[in-house]
Amino acid sequence: MSRVVVTGRIPDDGLEILRTAGEVWSWEHDEPIPVDVRNEQLADADAAVTLLTDRVDDAFLDAAPRLKVVANVAVGYNNIDVAACHARGVAVTNTPGVLTDATADLAMALTLMVTRRLGEGERLIRSGQPWKWSMFMMLGAGLQGRQLGIVGMGAIGEAFAARARAFGMRVVYHNRRAVDAETEARLDARLVGLHELLETSDVVSLNCPYSDATHHLVDEAALDRMRPDAYVINTARGPIVDEAALVEALRDGGIAGAGLDVFEHEPDVHPGLLELDNAVLVPHLGSATVETRSAMARLAARNAVEVLAGRPAVNPVA
Ligand code: GLV
Repeated sequence: MSRVVVTGRIPDDGLEILRTAGEVWSWEHDEPIPVDVRNEQLADADAAVTLLTDRVDDAFLDAAPRLKVVANVAVGYNNIDVAACHARGVAVTNTPGVLTDATADLAMALTLMVTRRLGEGERLIRSGQPWKWSMFMMLGAGLQGRQLGIVGMGAIGEAFAARARAFGMRVVYHNRRAVDAETEARLDARLVGLHELLETSDVVSLNCPYSDATHHLVDEAALDRMRPDAYVINTARGPIVDEAALVEALRDGGIAGAGLDVFEHEPDVHPGLLELDNAVLVPHLGSATVETRSAMARLAARNAVEVLAGRPAVNPVA
């Protein structure tokens, strides 16, 4: 019988699927599992179901000599040293697909929030300050006829592009390779170089995975290329953006605003961002719907069960 260790709270339907593979132990608290507890539990674990807040590195793997699979309950897997896992014959899986719509919805929501100054408006009302409607109060930017530039045209990028099209935006994208012709035609999206994307887009959205190649992709030089009336949206991973450079650009009018779901040193947020009205800040909520989190837990569980049964994972990370 296999033993599965779940390093944090996940929805029950995921746990139920895991129980079909054997004995399941899970850390049932919202605060991170202490390393000594984790290591003790990993000692005889065949599978680990992990969250994006876990660091799966050599220390984790050293504690888990029997491990066959790390099933991350997230589409991003930058928290996992995949090469170290593979070197020890440990499979790695993620949960693509099931969180595409929720994350694209959040990218659209952040775009609307920052361009229409909704956070600022909310803060004004809640501050109790007197206000009355006036012609020039809190004017934002409309999206119709504006250009969305998507960096990383995977499933989430495409889903955001489709939403933006419904709001009257046109789409360009930057990706390692062109998406298929049918998708390009459906989204009327054009592949461009990163510089052109930065220089010509009204909204730049980050939808790429985080890796050494995308670390600080949006740095001072990239922000300098952007127009002063343009916005950055990040629903991918915080360190894709140089947060200190972003604060400077937002403060000095280098760009108009930013909508951020993720942060460079999460859960810490650059103190400069907290003071800026043109930054909309939400706490990594991209996949945070009841339905999506359940679907992620079920998919991660299926991945673990398949590997434990000696079958190929549904979503292996290569
Ligand atoms: C969330 O950030 C995920 O990668 O699933």
